Amino acid sequence: MAKPEGYSAQDFSQHDRVLMQRPYDFYDRVRESGCPVARSEKLGGFWYTTNYAAARRVYDDFRTFSSADGTALPKQPLPLYPIDLDPPQQTRMRKLLNPIFLPDAILKYRPRFDAIIGDLLDEIAPKGEAELQEELVRPTLATVIMPFLGVPKADWAMLAHKLDFLTRMRVEDPDTCARYGEELSNYLYEFAARRRGTPPEDDLMQILIDARIGGEALTDEEIVGIATLVLFGGLDTTSAVVGMALWYLIEHPDERARLLDGEVDFPKALHEFVRYASPIQGLRRTVTRDTELEGCPLKAGDYVMAMNGAANHDPGKFPEPDQVRFDRPIGNEHDHLGFGGGAHICIGQHFAKTLMETLIRAVFDRLPDLRIRDDFRPAFAVGESRVLQTLPVSFRPA
Ligand code: HEM
Repeated sequence: MAKPEGYSAQDFSQHDRVLMQRPYDFYDRVRESGCPVARSEKLGGFWYTTNYAAARRVYDDFRTFSSADGTALPKQPLPLYPIDLDPPQQTRMRKLLNPIFLPDAILKYRPRFDAIIGDLLDEIAPKGEAELQEELVRPTLATVIMPFLGVPKADWAMLAHKLDFLTRMRVEDPDTCARYGEELSNYLYEFAARRRGTPPEDDLMQILIDARIGGEALTDEEIVGIATLVLFGGLDTTSAVVGMALWYLIEHPDERARLLDGEVDFPKALHEFVRYASPIQGLRRTVTRDTELEGCPLKAGDYVMAMNGAANHDPGKFPEPDQVRFDRPIGNEHDHLGFGGGAHICIGQHFAKTLMETLIRAVFDRLPDLRIRDDFRPAFAVGESRVLQTLPVSFRPA
């Protein structure tokens, strides 16, 4: 097999900072060498999918490919619910969460999104240049997700730091990650306990405290597991897609005009950006019985990474996969795997899509003449998610 940049199939890890700058070249080589399912010897050894069909099968067959031992590799030191459960336990919790994340329920957050983004753009607009990921996109996400859960503002920076470290540094610094995991968990247990004794508020923590499944309240462990997952699941992923979308739309004014003028369906375009960016490049499942995946024999207990990034850039499924194409016949959650697939498909996707549309429209409304600065060198933070780090721009000060 050809070895792009010195890497062979068995060297793969989505925590590899060099490889994951250009993962699509790597997946192509492994897939083209006839390996829809390849073996890596990194991180204790695991299988990973390189085409669409293999990843799709892993997502759709939860009985053979279980989430109950967690979905991260290396493992996260924290339980995450409902992602670390299989049906029917997962279904039970998902039913409880569904109403909170339905499109109609998300609409009530729209004015809050507008206000937060408007305030940040007020600060940026007179300056004439900005680093959009750092000054706009990441702060927007933190300012939206933290109050959605209900955590006090004084703790946002500490929480964001720990979450980021846990997402990126589990290979390089497992000890600090273990400590941060414990601290984060203790923080959320204390936060939940404190909130049980105070007047009700309008946030997710309140909904979790008040929730009943079959007449029974959620346990503290379940509440903390859901809260942790919302923090992990919502922040980085959405920032990654917005960063890539803004970069593309600044550089393609004709496509931007088509989108903003309504010629292109906005939600469909957002799905294409999620496919293109694939911030969650891959998720782990554990094999429950000896089986075979696209011709590759697997044993009970093996780990398989369903690689969303490789599936979403498989030319057999998405022609010219490294191009953004608003006219692709995609646009529903049953096609690309950027939001995952099967029982665990992203429950936060309407939340993410509403926020992404609000953010993209607001940016071009307030800063219509954006240009990418010449010193831009695309670089991605990697780990559990792959995120564009910076997007330096200039514009006429408003
Ligand atoms: C563009 C942004 C987003 C992307 C790309 C994304 C991606 C994903 C993926 C791939 C999964 C599947 C996990 C699996 O199969 O094991 C997932 C599940 C989940 N996501 Fe998202 N996500 C995004 C935004 C959000 C937001 C904004 C929230 C919350 C506010 C959220 C909360 C969740 C939760 C709770 C689950 C677990 C669902 C379950 O286990 O049934 N996500 N997400």
